[in-house]
Parts: sequence; structure tokens; C-alpha cells
Amino acid sequence: MSNYHIKHLEEYYQVYRKSIREPENFWEEVAEEHFLWRKKWDKVLEWDFSKPEIKWFEGAKLNITENCIDRHLATRGDKTAILFEPNDPKEPAEHITYKQLHKRVNQFANVLKENGVKKGDRVCIYVPMIPELAISLLACARIGAIHSVVFAGFSSTALSTRINDSDCKIVITADGSYRGKKTIDLKGIVDEALESCAGVKTVLVAKRINSDIHMEEGRDKWLQPLLDEASTECTAEVMDAEDPLFILYTSGSTGKPKGMVHTTGGYMVYTAYTFKNAFQYTENDVYWCTADIGWITGHSYIVYGPLANGATTVLFEGVPSYPDFGRFWDIVEKHKINQFYTAPTAIRALAKQGTELVDKYDLSSLKVLGSVGEPINEEAWHWYNDNVGKKKSPIIDSWWQTETGGIMITPIPYVTPTKPTYATLPFIGIQPALMDENGDELKGNQVEGRLCIKFPWPSIARTIWGNHQRYKETYFSAFDNMYFTGDGALRDEVGYYRITGRVDDVIIVSGHNLGTAPIEDAINEHPAVAESAIVGFPHDVKGSALYGYVILKDAGESRNHDNLRKEINQIITEHIGPIAKLDKIQFSEGLPKTRSGKIMRRILRKIASNEMDNLGDTSTLLNPEVVQNIIDNRM
Ligand code: PRX
Repeated sequence: MSNYHIKHLEEYYQVYRKSIREPENFWEEVAEEHFLWRKKWDKVLEWDFSKPEIKWFEGAKLNITENCIDRHLATRGDKTAILFEPNDPKEPAEHITYKQLHKRVNQFANVLKENGVKKGDRVCIYVPMIPELAISLLACARIGAIHSVVFAGFSSTALSTRINDSDCKIVITADGSYRGKKTIDLKGIVDEALESCAGVKTVLVAKRINSDIHMEEGRDKWLQPLLDEASTECTAEVMDAEDPLFILYTSGSTGKPKGMVHTTGGYMVYTAYTFKNAFQYTENDVYWCTADIGWITGHSYIVYGPLANGATTVLFEGVPSYPDFGRFWDIVEKHKINQFYTAPTAIRALAKQGTELVDKYDLSSLKVLGSVGEPINEEAWHWYNDNVGKKKSPIIDSWWQTETGGIMITPIPYVTPTKPTYATLPFIGIQPALMDENGDELKGNQVEGRLCIKFPWPSIARTIWGNHQRYKETYFSAFDNMYFTGDGALRDEVGYYRITGRVDDVIIVSGHNLGTAPIEDAINEHPAVAESAIVGFPHDVKGSALYGYVILKDAGESRNHDNLRKEINQIITEHIGPIAKLDKIQFSEGLPKTRSGKIMRRILRKIASNEMDNLGDTSTLLNPEVVQNIIDNRM
């Protein structure tokens, strides 16, 4: 039996049990059978959550790009590795084969070397979704430099904070980017950021929009001429399994962003293994994850996981609404996508458009649908299932985090029966625990608590760059000997997990714990509602009461708002109980969102609590303008 590709539920349980009983043997077998190591490990796992210290495959030597590229050359050299779909559908798609990828990564790696980048140096990558983005990650990995990708939608302040935090000496960027009808002056943002980054000596600029940009003498260099001159051969640097592969920043609930550090060997093994199983990828499938490589989803499931399996991975430059809201489905039809991985926020935005644009395209190639990043509400789940999957493609609602590196709880398609809004079962090797407020583990089923993980898995982040103490405090101090996720979850009667939302969003009303996600789910069932967000605000009798921000599908909804408020509370009462009724409901035009589409509840909480002079930094929001509008219409 191969442990690598699970195909039946019985097999899942068998493999899962083995991975829990003998984790070291299990991961050793996976690592041995499916990857290329320059030297095998001395020890599979060493860990101590109290320090915390976690080491996988210590003593092993490898280069992840040899696993993602070189070893496929003999058998898959002419297979498409990266399928680039440009912003403009009229611009032809680009098929980059494994052979071509090998050459381009080597050339890029040589350019980095010629510009003084050495093993262990940090390289900031601020590049839109063009092939150079994926190639730059791999080029860093080829020479052992640590990449730090900053999502190319972040502001100059966010960019400079990240550059300085990890002391990057070089920035890779582009002249600009396309985003639907708009172009964005990326290089201008970099120039502004670098005013406060004295350590950056070199900027490599890819040409994408052919705009007339400022090139700083002695600092900025066009990338293409350097690539053209560089050799297509570059010996891969031999790395230790525990050498850092990359830093990726994630926002903390407070304070400055946390630079999560992922290392090489374990990250490779886990992302490759989860990719194969969670998407049931088979040779010749075309896989598309719509995330940006600027997020962990893109790192693990556009670049490393798929390429380590010799897959064809789509890299889409554009947005779901350009040239119209049918773009995703157009791409699915055009490239005959087999696995499609997106976020609930995108599904909801598309669902708002009705079904005409989905029905127009042939989606019959789809075999697996994925969802990630936030809880998927029931309505969106059904819309996705009915209209995109035509009730035949299982939805994998996959729960994980920047910190976990790979998928942690997910159905395995065609293996685990799905259940709307449930991430279902722990992935192989993952040992979740639900904890109560006293720090005791809740055993058995039909329990709800704080989601922790009891045992290390290969791709857990090893530290926060430059701040191991913060890593310890954030993740390993809430509960003894446990990794604390910051999320709440429930385990139903059959042992399926449902993520109920961040624990920091749990609101205690009259002594009752209420998760925001289930209330929002209920509200979203109202036919007039597009989206909603619930926060707590101080209340003299109840401790906290609930404040709801509700976006209506039709902003000009003519019906009486007081009646709508009553109906919404009626639905909540029906779904959860009268305790969850909202004290205040504000109909708003939008919700403040991060660039990755997450609602910034911190801001909503402050507005609801009338703490408007203390809103914090709103500059990195996707839509900072909605904040004033919400304040103006506060209840
Ligand atoms: O709250 C959980 C939510 O997103 C958080 C992690 O965010 P980030 O580090 O940006 O990574 C997102 C992509 C992996 C989690 O703590 N989350 C992620 N996936 C799900 C989810 N919540 C519910 N269901 C999910 N499938």
C-alpha cells in the first residue's frame, strides 16, 4: 500500500492511525519514497513545544528546487509546469514547461548571485501575478536565499515595514501591474517604501506594463537584459532540512506583522503530500488556485506543493470581475481546469451576480472544488456546490493558516463525505484538540472549544523572524504543550470539525459564548442580505451585546429598514436562539477588508464601541473609504 495517495475512506483511517501512532516512521516513509535528498536525515523529529523548538529531518541535505524542477526533467520535461493566464483574455496564455522553468529559474538565480545575493540573505519580492513572481521564489530557493514575498497590493508603508523587519538588501519588483481595467504603479510604491529602507542596495525591475518609470541610478536595474545574459545552468545550493526557505508576514491581532519562518525539508514534504491528497491530483490534471502568491496559499499551493508533484499549476494575473464576472468560468473552460481552489469571499461576490455567467461556460472538466481562508457560509457553499460543481465535484473546505504552512483539516475529495461549512476531518498526521477555558482538553464528540494541535507536523512555522519570544507567547503559551491556533472549532457527533471563527471574535453575551460565524451565516440566509459582520460592544446589563453590519444585495432596497431588522433577528432566533439577537443593525455599503479579503473586525468593533479616535492603521485596507461611511451611519 502506498501511503502517498489515499483513495478510500478506509484507507484514510488506516493511514491516519498509522501517522498518529508512529509519526516518525510515517513521515520518514513519505520523505524517503517521494523526494530527492542529497543526504538523508540523522533524526526524523525533535520537538519541544515548551521552548518551542521543532526540527524535522535534521541533518538531511536537499534543495527544494531540485525536487520541484530538476527531477521532473527526464519524465515531464515538456509538460507545462506553469500555465500563465494574463489579465487581458485577448493576450495569449503562456505555457512554461518544466524544461523552460529550469532554465528561467537558473538564469534568475544567476542574476541574484551576480547582484551579491548569498545563501541566507533575505530577498524581498514585490511582484504581481506574472511568471517572474513564481520564478523569483524558486530562484531564491535555488541559491539558498530566503524569500520574503510581500503581496503586491500592500501599501508602501506595509512594504517598508516588512523590508526592514527582515533586513532585505534587495527588492524584486515590476514597473507596474494590471488589475482588470486598471494599472498600478508598483515601482512608484517601491520607490516610496525605499525612502525609509536604507539597507536596500539593489532593485531588480521586471517589465510588465511598459510604463515610464523612474530608475534610480546605481540602484535600479531592468531584469530582462540581465536574465538574457545569464547562464541557464546554476548548481543548486545544498541546504539543511532546517534552513529557512522563506519568511511570510501575517498580521497579528495587534502590533506589527509577524514574519513567520518556514524551513525547507518538512515544508516540502508536507505541502507536496497535502497537495496530492487534498486535491486528488493525478498526472495531466490542470490545477488552478486563484490565490495570490503573496499569501501562504499561493506559496504552498500554487508554487511548491504542485511543482513538487510535477503538476501543471495555473497562475492568473487578473481579477474575477474582468472583463466580466464570468472570467473564472471562462478560464475553467479554456484550460479545462480539473481542480479549482478559491476563497469564500470570491464565491460570494460571484454568487451575487446570479447564475447566468456560470451557466454560459462548460465547467465539465472540474473534479474538485476547494475553499480556503475563512469559514464558508452555508449559502455560499450551496451556490458553489450547485452552480459550479453541479453537485458532482466535492468541495474541500480546507482549514489552515500561514503558520501551519499546509492544509490541516479538510475533506479528501471522493474519500471524505462532505458536509456544508465543515472542514471535516484532520489531515494525515494532524492531531487536533479542543480546549476549554480552563485549559482542559474536551474529549469525545459534540464539543466546542479552542482549536489546538497536540503534535508537530512537518510544515509548522519554526519561529517569528527576529522574535522567538513572540512566537512562544502567541502560539505556545495559551495551553501547555499545545500549538494554539487562535481559532474556535466544534466537533460534531461523527467527529467532523467546523471552524467557528477566530477566538478573538467570540463574544460573550449574558454569559453565553457566541461565535460570530454562525450568526453571520444565519443573517446571510435572509434573501436581501449579501454579507454581514458581527462584533461585540459594551452593554451594561449583558456585558457585551451584538452589533451587526449588514450589506444588502440591493443597496437601494426600498423595504422598510426596521422591518428588515426584525426579519434578520427572527432568522437569528430561528437558527441560534434569542440570545444571539442583535441589539443594533447598521446597513452599510461595505465592510473594511484586508487585501486578502478578510473583514477587519477590529475596526468594526471600535466603531461599534464608539472608540472612533482609536481606529489604528487603516491604510493597508482594501477599501479604506468605507470606514468613514460606516462611522457616519453608525447606529
Ligand atoms: O481563522 C482561520 C481562517 O483563516 C485563518 C488563517 O489565515 P491566514 O494565515 O491568512 O491563512 C489563510 C489561508 C490558509 C485561520 O486561523 N481560515 C482559513 N481557512 C479556513 C478558515 N476558517 C474557516 N474555514 C477555513 N477553511
